Amino acid sequence: MTEIITPRTLGTTGRVPFPEGFLWGAATAAFQIEGAAHTDGREDSVWDTFCRIPGAVLGGDDGEVACDHYHRYREDVALLADLNLDTYRFSSSWARVQPGGGAVNQKGLDFYSRLVDELLAKDLLPWITLYHWDLPQAIEDQGGWTNRDTAYRFADYAVTMHEALGDRVGVWTTLNEPWCSAFLGYTGGIHAPGRQSRPDGLAAAHHLLLGHGLAVQALRERAPEANLGITLNFTVADPVDPDDAGDVDAARRIDGQFNRIFLDPVIKGEYPADVLADVAQYGFTDHIQDGDLAIISSPIDALGVNYYHGELVSSRPASTELVGDAPVERRTSSPYPAADGVFNHPRGLPVTDQNWEIQPEGLTRLLNRLQADYTGPAGVPLYITENGCAYDDVVEADGSVDDQNRLEFFDAHLRAVKDAIVDGADVRGYFAWSLLDNFEWSWGYSKRFGVVRVDYETQERTVKASGRWFAQVAADNAVPA
Ligand code: NOJ
Repeated sequence: MTEIITPRTLGTTGRVPFPEGFLWGAATAAFQIEGAAHTDGREDSVWDTFCRIPGAVLGGDDGEVACDHYHRYREDVALLADLNLDTYRFSSSWARVQPGGGAVNQKGLDFYSRLVDELLAKDLLPWITLYHWDLPQAIEDQGGWTNRDTAYRFADYAVTMHEALGDRVGVWTTLNEPWCSAFLGYTGGIHAPGRQSRPDGLAAAHHLLLGHGLAVQALRERAPEANLGITLNFTVADPVDPDDAGDVDAARRIDGQFNRIFLDPVIKGEYPADVLADVAQYGFTDHIQDGDLAIISSPIDALGVNYYHGELVSSRPASTELVGDAPVERRTSSPYPAADGVFNHPRGLPVTDQNWEIQPEGLTRLLNRLQADYTGPAGVPLYITENGCAYDDVVEADGSVDDQNRLEFFDAHLRAVKDAIVDGADVRGYFAWSLLDNFEWSWGYSKRFGVVRVDYETQERTVKASGRWFAQVAADNAVPA
């Protein structure tokens, strides 16, 4: 048999084809784009409340209007089609569908029904995420994710969504980035609801995972053929000095409290022993009841991977403290429950406008590791459900945006994905974050991630150079030379 030598593609400039049937998409999230925050029965989510805290969100921005997608969804779906995409990853707002956390708001459900119909009419695969951080405030008032009951309510909401859309939506993601919901929201306090408690972050992490498992079970029972999954955000934590025990332990802690605390229970049905030991003093195990891990590890059909950058860490201080990314006054406490004495060291790589280092090879390593240690043995395919970058776009006199920097970011990361596929990782799709410029959480509207520019004064949409390039990639199923 002839040996096929496939060249690695990262760092090269040749054409890079992707496997047949590879899915190309763009992603958004309800709170970040919809606006219409108090229209047709929607009530406050934790993010509406959080935006009202002085200093919590840069510029005092909020989600009242955002990209006005609630009213402009037809135009936005047309954009997706113009970009030659196969699929659209969006989230439903729990606070629109069950504003008080229980009773169903039919008008809220109807919006998602109209959106799905529009997508199907344009031949786009609807890929729904049930929870992208906008917990109804009414549920937070009863303890939010620190209350075990919230997990059961989440499963109930999942069923409500499935009753309404299950006939037309085949791909269901339970949670987006539970690390952020739990630890940025309940420990670091830089995301809603803004609590700063280590025990609360850990309680939230377990209950989010339980909610995921309960929702998977409920949806599986209703629709055995549905494609069910979860999206996790990952980092790649490297020690500054691989021969220094303190640095190696710093990297282990970050990997444990960022990646493995979610990945291991979902895929392997257990929490990692070292993480349990690290956080032992915060009562984490008090929340874990018999049978929970069997629920949490209910089989899934897809693992969503969100990747932005890795970390270089050490037990010795550097100029950067490990307190999470946030431009705001609340940037005071670490989102990690047990990473005291761990420090980030900038690598000196080029950075995006959020100061995030651009590290595409980290994505190859991450995908290969997931394939080898987690999803490969479990037989679960991988999808890049988010990857992208914030840049301050320059608008030319004719209104165009020639964002070569964003285009190059996508080019490098897609080559990194292809490298992992060549290495054997079962990666089946890639979603650009994001379709539109939108509300970037505690950064407000100051950071632009879209392949389509949004003029927030006029709500005009303009496809950027990166968007046109991505459309060509999707059409050709290949990164061009
Ligand atoms: C991950 C989140 O899912 C998304 O909401 C956010 O805007 C991007 N990362 C960029 O920070």
